[in-house]
Amino acid sequence: MQLNKILFLSAVILFATSCRKDEVPGPPVIPFVTTPYELERPTGFPQFNTPDDNQLTQEGVALGRRLFYDKMLSGNFTQSCASCHNQSLAFTDNGTQFSTGINGDVGTRNAQALINMAFNLHFFWDGRQPTLESQIIEPVPNPIEMHLQWSEAAQRLNANSNYKELFKKAFNVDVIDSTHVAKAIAQFIRTMISANSKLDKRLRNEIALTPSETNGFVIFNTEKGDCFHCHNIDAGRLMTDNQFHNNGLDAVFTDLGRGAITGNPADNGKFLTPTLRNIALTAPYMHDGRFATLEEVVEHYNSGGVPSETIDPLMKHVGTGLNLTNQEKADLVAFLRTMTDEEFISDPRFSDPF
Ligand code: HEC
Ligand code: HEC
Repeated sequence: MQLNKILFLSAVILFATSCRKDEVPGPPVIPFVTTPYELERPTGFPQFNTPDDNQLTQEGVALGRRLFYDKMLSGNFTQSCASCHNQSLAFTDNGTQFSTGINGDVGTRNAQALINMAFNLHFFWDGRQPTLESQIIEPVPNPIEMHLQWSEAAQRLNANSNYKELFKKAFNVDVIDSTHVAKAIAQFIRTMISANSKLDKRLRNEIALTPSETNGFVIFNTEKGDCFHCHNIDAGRLMTDNQFHNNGLDAVFTDLGRGAITGNPADNGKFLTPTLRNIALTAPYMHDGRFATLEEVVEHYNSGGVPSETIDPLMKHVGTGLNLTNQEKADLVAFLRTMTDEEFISDPRFSDPF
């Protein structure tokens, strides 16, 4: 990469010195050079899903971090992305069921955790956005979130000499618009990797789990609990299969989920499988935050779920239930708690830079 820089600089110098004498000298050429940000892929994780036109740079990530925490991106300067995505709770919304926008309006979905987004294939509970860059365009103008038109956001940023300079350094642009903001924030969010929980240390054979956690692991990862089909550990350690399923919450759907996006009734009541990493920190649970505790979640699965037209074939115990004993339920919860990653929630690189 250093070589790239040198090559680029020499090209600029060559170009500058090759000008003919009779040409009017223009303004001095400032070479555009960024420093690559080397994102480390943890053992067992899949390939990053980074678009070719938004490779990570030190400048882009630092700028994205600033924007993520800047209340200037909301209509009345009271809310930033971090208001609903708090690092100490794995970037969820402070235990609330539904988030409140700047005007006091309340949404209908639970704020998602932002963990290992660099590997995701779909964004939002219904997967309506295909990339992190396109996802980020939504919350700023959304009236129940930050409620600021992008034209106004761009105006604010273009009037700020500090941001002008930071965007110039990161993207070589003189006029900032929403695409640059989305690119920078996406770069920052891609650096938020959680791969050092107790479970990860166990998978790397660095530590042992307690007998209760181990039993929970077995229930999770065998036909007994049947969790692993959707919250997949082996294929990439993301604790999600990145697919849409109906996990048997309702007989009648008030939120059609994936079905509202595809228009296909076979998708009604399906939602994106969430990662279970840091799950002990991200209550309440499910797309509508209906369960306050992990114990309630385990009760739901233990019941076998509610039958409906679209319930997933992998919910194999509808009607009969899993019939776990109280000890087994406690073990499963103990296992879920092993996915907490203290390093992730206290990593200074992800914290508020202001
Ligand atoms: C008012 C609260 C609120 C604010 C402010 C907010 N979000 Fe969110 N965020 C949510 C909610 C709620 C969802 C789930 C929405 C849905 O699925 O329809 C979400 C979902 C997401 C997702 C999808 C995660 C996944 O697993 O697919 C990303 C990424 C995200 N937000 C990033 C951001 C960024 C970046 C900002 C700032 C530009 C931001 N959010 C501002 C509440 C908020
Ligand atoms: C058929 C696929 C499937 C199976 C099997 C499955 N899950 Fe889920 N799980 C999902 C989906 C999809 C959601 C989100 C559903 C929603 O919000 O509507 C979810 C949500 C969750 C949540 C809440 C996550 C959050 O961020 O709110 C937890 C915890 C959970 N599952 C644990 C388990 C456990 C434990 C098992 C095994 C007993 C299990 N799951 C089995 C697909 C599945």
